[in-house]
Parts: sequence; C-alpha cells; structure tokens
Amino acid sequence: MIPVVLDVDTGVDDALALGLALALPELRVVAVTTVAGNVDVEQATQNTRRVLDWFGAVSIPVARGASQPLLRPHQDAREFHGTDGLGGAMLTPRRSGPILDTAAPEVMVRTARRYAGSLRLVCLGPLTNLAMAVRLEPRLPEFIERLIVMGGAFAVPGNVTPFAEFNVWSDPEAAHIVAEAGFRTIWVGLDVTTAVRFYRAVRESLAGSNLPGARLAYEVSRWAFDQRGIDSFALHDPVAVAVAAQPDLVTGERAVVQVLTSPNEIRGRTVWRAQTHAPALVAQELHTQAVYKLLQERLGLPGGEEEPTQWDDHAP
Ligand code: RIB
Ligand code: CA
Repeated sequence: MIPVVLDVDTGVDDALALGLALALPELRVVAVTTVAGNVDVEQATQNTRRVLDWFGAVSIPVARGASQPLLRPHQDAREFHGTDGLGGAMLTPRRSGPILDTAAPEVMVRTARRYAGSLRLVCLGPLTNLAMAVRLEPRLPEFIERLIVMGGAFAVPGNVTPFAEFNVWSDPEAAHIVAEAGFRTIWVGLDVTTAVRFYRAVRESLAGSNLPGARLAYEVSRWAFDQRGIDSFALHDPVAVAVAAQPDLVTGERAVVQVLTSPNEIRGRTVWRAQTHAPALVAQELHTQAVYKLLQERLGLPGGEEEPTQWDDHAP
C-alpha cells in the first residue's frame, strides 16, 4: 500500500474523494490536511472530520491549514457546495477522530520525512499549504514519491474564468511555487476530470442504500440536485484520487508547467511546454470507464452510461 496524504478543501467532491481513497486497496491514508477553498478552513476541517468519521476512519489525523491564499483574499465556492460545503448532508457518525494542533504545512513536511521518499501527496484544493511546506523545506520534492494535483485547465476552458480552474485560480501564487518546485507531478486538470460525473438519475437510484459510499453520495448531493436543480456535477477530486492509486488511468505529456498570476484577466491560467525529461506530466486522456468502474466497485456509485457531452456546469 502506498502511504498518502490528502490535502482537501472539503466540499462535495472532496468528500467523495476521501471515501474513495479509504476504499482503494492501493492507498493507505496516513493524514489529511485542510485548506481554505470551497469553504473556509474551519468548515473544511469539520467537514473532513465528519466524512472520515462517517467511514469509521477515526484514527486518521486531520491537520488544519491555511485560512487564506498566500497573497489574496479567500473566495469560497459555497454556491456550488452549499452553505456547509457538504451539500447539506445529514451524516451522523458515532465517534470522532483527532484534529491535530500542528499546522498542515508542518504535517506535510514531517510526514514526508517519516516516509522518506515513499509518500504520495494528493492535493484536491488550492495549493496554499503545499507552497508553505516548500518554503519550510525546499527539499520537499525529494521526499515525495509523487504529487497528484487536481488543478489546472490546460487545453480546455476554466471553470472560474475562461482560462482558470478553481484550485489554481484561488491561489495562483501558491500554484506557481508548486509548479516550479520540481515535484514529480501528475496534473489532473479539467481536461480529464469534467467527463466523470454524478447524475441525478444515479443519485435517485441510491435512495435507501445502506452502503456508506452510496449514502454519502446521496447526502452530499442534496444541494446540487434539490436546491440548484442541476442534472449532474463533475467528480473532479475522485478522479484525482483514482489517478493517485492507478497513474496509468491517464496518459499525457511530460511538460514544464507555468501558472500565470497577472494581469487579473489571466490569473490562474496554466500553460505548459512539452519537455521529454520534465518531472511533471499533464494528463490529457483518461480511461473514463475504468474510473466509473472503480467508483462502482469501491463506493457503490453506478455510472458510466453514455451521457450528453455538452454541459454548462462550471462548478468548481
Ligand atoms: O475545480 C475543481 C476543484 O475546485 C475541486 O477540487 C473542487 O472541490 C474545488 O476545490
Ligand atoms: Ca476540492
């Protein structure tokens, strides 16, 4: 099993990604760190604890991270994730695990050192914590076996602006630091995540399910389907977790990635230049049906029917 740290801004798709990570046999979640993104960091921390406890993962520590981006004010995405960030989910776990006093960047560095080059880091929110961790320990890329980032829009439009994806847009300076740090990275951007979706019809088929993953999906999608009235939303973060477990789910090209920070119109734009020996890979194709199969097997979420390929969903 690969030791992983998940860095999250628990929101709806982060919640499902946490559940998937706990269920995938390839991964051992050794800690979860939280960051301001979809919601404020306090809410993200509470949501993360609630989701882990829902799955009985009460021994997995959660460490609170940055309350705002490095240089910019925090702007949340509650319109897409609901006021509580969990879609109004009604989850009643029996026990609760620990929230550490140690800040997230320090936990990232300590955990990376402890696992001495075998730790896989999966970032599912703005990259503020990881940028701070790089400042704490510039050699951090040497201790991270692989970094998987749910972030960026490389050859497709963004979901916040025509150019920028939410995680990168939220803290472009942090994403710039991470992109330049030399991590062996797989950038799992909107190019491959948008195609994996959770549909209203699938949710309705889960009503009454006793499977924890299916119950979670039913609960966290209340806001999307009952309040916003949309017909589907993308499972961005679960795709990134699936890739963390099985990197061969994506193909792409090795490249040097740059994150633009100004002027404001192109804030958070991710540009890349193919380079054969670059440590980063930009995912361009995904084995979508294989991801749906994992979601079905591990979380009890049916899916993968042929669906319309045009969506107007710009939800982060
Ligand atoms: O753009 C999608 C990303 O932004 C996902 O991680 C979602 O949870 C939000 O954080
Ligand atoms: Ca997220």
